[in-house]
Amino acid sequence: MTTVKHPVRGPVNAAIFRTLDGYAHRLWGERKRRLFADLPGTVVEIGAGTGANMRYYRPGTKVIAVEPSPYMHKALLAEARRRNVAVEIRAEGAERMSLPDGFADAVVCTLVLCTVPDPAAAIREVGRILRPGGRLVFIEHVQDQEHAGYVVTQRIAARPWRWLFEGCDVRRDTEAALRAGGFTEVGVERYRLRSVFLPINTQIAGVATK
Ligand SMILES: C[S@@+](CC[C@H](N)C(=O)[O-])C[C@H]1O[C@@H](n2cnc3c(N)ncnc32)[C@H](O)[C@@H]1O
Repeated sequence: MTTVKHPVRGPVNAAIFRTLDGYAHRLWGERKRRLFADLPGTVVEIGAGTGANMRYYRPGTKVIAVEPSPYMHKALLAEARRRNVAVEIRAEGAERMSLPDGFADAVVCTLVLCTVPDPAAAIREVGRILRPGGRLVFIEHVQDQEHAGYVVTQRIAARPWRWLFEGCDVRRDTEAALRAGGFTEVGVERYRLRSVFLPINTQIAGVATK
């Protein structure tokens, strides 16, 4: 599936992600360090954006970055170079990747299944490219089903958020989608971030093993 990117919002989003990189590091840095600690030397990252995760890979890691938005690529390459990560960009959607079956030991996905047009297809495709026993490491914001304030906030923010962030849906039940994704084990931690971005504070993180 092709993901068409907007000629104005595409570059604006790339600029927003770069500008917020330090803040994102404060919000997710600890968690990413823990989750990424024992990643192998070659990793597939879907929706790598402008390279927010590059600083958490061991120097020398090879990252195959599946990133359909051309507006992200320049910053992604620069960030990878800065962190001594060898990045190979595949300008395609995660729903249909040009990687062979069982290719990957590990796939990384942070704040992406909220935005891919067909998350179930992307999860299936991740399962296809992982080798048996391989891992999907993920951090995602999800639909809040418990806290009335967040439920209302997400309902109000959903449309403008989707427009500005090119399809990002703050009300997806990504945990259910992962559990339905055919993995042998899905380890999920649910938590609420304390950030200024209220619609995305309800999150999950973990590892799904094929
Ligand atoms: C919110 S950004 C997250 C970027 C980065 N992973 C991070 O944690 O900051 C979502 C990313 O998903 C990418 N994306 C959108 N549709 C996609 C698709 N079908 N397959 C893979 N990535 C996609 C966007 O271009 C964007 O870079």
